[in-house]
Amino acid sequence: MHPTLMLLPLLAFLLLLRGRAHAGCEPATCGNVTVKYPFWLGGPNQPPSALSCGPPAFQVRCLNNGSVASLRGSPVHALRIDYSNSSFVASHAKVADGTDGVCLADFNVSSSIALSPFKIGRSNRVMCFLYNCNRTEPRGRTYVNVTANCTTPTFAYLGGSYDRDKPPENLTGGCTYSYLPVLGSEAAGMTAANYSRLLKDGFVLEWAGVGDCSACNTSGGQCRYDNDSAAFACLCPDGRRSGRTCAGECHLPIP
Ligand SMILES: *[C@@H]1O[C@H](CO)[C@@H](O)[C@H](O)[C@H]1NC(C)=O
Ligand SMILES: *[C@@H]1O[C@H](CO)[C@@H](O)[C@H](O)[C@H]1NC(C)=O
Ligand SMILES: *[C@@H]1O[C@H](CO)[C@@H](O)[C@H](O)[C@H]1NC(C)=O
Ligand SMILES: *[C@@H]1O[C@H](CO)[C@@H](O)[C@H](O)[C@H]1NC(C)=O
Ligand SMILES: *[C@@H]1O[C@H](CO)[C@@H](O)[C@H](O)[C@H]1NC(C)=O
Ligand SMILES: *[C@@H]1O[C@H](CO)[C@@H](O)[C@H](O)[C@H]1NC(C)=O
Ligand SMILES: *[C@@H]1O[C@H](CO)[C@@H](O)[C@H](O)[C@H]1NC(C)=O
Ligand SMILES: *[C@@H]1O[C@H](CO)[C@@H](O)[C@H](O)[C@H]1NC(C)=O
Ligand SMILES: *[C@@H]1O[C@H](CO)[C@@H](O)[C@H](O)[C@H]1NC(C)=O
Ligand SMILES: *[C@@H]1O[C@H](CO)[C@@H](O)[C@H](O)[C@H]1NC(C)=O
Ligand SMILES: *[C@@H]1O[C@H](CO)[C@@H](O)[C@H](O)[C@H]1NC(C)=O
Repeated sequence: MHPTLMLLPLLAFLLLLRGRAHAGCEPATCGNVTVKYPFWLGGPNQPPSALSCGPPAFQVRCLNNGSVASLRGSPVHALRIDYSNSSFVASHAKVADGTDGVCLADFNVSSSIALSPFKIGRSNRVMCFLYNCNRTEPRGRTYVNVTANCTTPTFAYLGGSYDRDKPPENLTGGCTYSYLPVLGSEAAGMTAANYSRLLKDGFVLEWAGVGDCSACNTSGGQCRYDNDSAAFACLCPDGRRSGRTCAGECHLPIP
């Protein structure tokens, strides 16, 4: 047999694989969110693949009948994604869902996303919940007593710009406290008394370091994530993988 004929089944197979990979990474919709690189739709039984549609942390599981975009099946849900400035609005289901979220806010949101590539920017404001107060309970205009809705004494406080390494000062009373980011833009005109709405509206997360997808795309490539090297990969029409774009390399014409 002619050597090229022997290659035909392999070529067909490779084309099929590429077709699949392409179809698998098309932009998709989940709830109100458009899912595209670096985000990608996946499931718990995702077969391992060397070239995936995006970095692991950006995997979106579309839950609740396709209405909720959950990050890797976690309680952190993406509500809106802004691809132009690499940020998205997320909420934490434990405090955002239902009516008693305020009583469940006994954790720091930063610890939920500590190991992820997402950053809680300073455009957020900080919301604190104080509980287990040993000595005096906090009093004053800046604290809202939300005890009536919870089983344990709990107080809400709305502070300034969110800084994960520097909790707000002057939280009095010898209480344990948690602190969570809330949308700074929405928090304008709101007070600690608006805690319920603020928890539901979520907070802004920013991402970086996932490659320049638009440059790759403009050069005719598709954005992928190389799982082996844990790096961005630009998949070119000729099947080549580049670390950046498909442009700028000379190809000898195939005779
Ligand atoms: C989607 O957006 C609509 C209109 O802005 C809103 O009413 C609805 O709650 C949103 N759905 C989700 C799952 O966020
Ligand atoms: C990526 O590689 C890790 C191990 O390095 C593996 O556990 C994971 O399943 C891979 N992910 C995909 C989507 O293939
Ligand atoms: C899921 O969504 C489909 C289509 O929108 C709808 O027909 C179906 O009733 C929904 N199922 C549930 C359990 O909400
Ligand atoms: C990104 O842009 C949107 C709308 O253009 C804006 O609301 C949001 O604050 C911006 N986010 C960041 C982190 O700059
Ligand atoms: C939240 O973080 C602050 C400061 O790092 C810490 O003092 C506090 O105990 C933490 N709260 C919880 C519930 O982990
Ligand atoms: C308790 O929750 C109800 C709704 O569930 C709300 O209207 C009310 O303002 C809450 N009260 C306090 C003190 O937070
Ligand atoms: C907070 O509210 C609870 C019940 O609503 C009440 O028993 C408690 O005295 C209040 N604490 C303060 C410091 O106002
Ligand atoms: C904290 O308390 C000190 C002394 O009471 C005061 O000078 C300072 O302005 C307060 N800081 C904030 C952020 O409220
Ligand atoms: C409250 O008091 C108990 C017992 O004295 C102590 O173990 C705990 O650390 C105290 N909590 C705070 C927030 O001071
Ligand atoms: C904040 O809460 C106050 C009192 O509960 C309410 O009057 C006001 O409309 C709320 N503001 C917003 C922006 O929801
Ligand atoms: C650019 O990306 C979009 C999805 O974000 C994709 O549909 C399109 O095929 C890409 N462009 C090229 C030339 O591959």
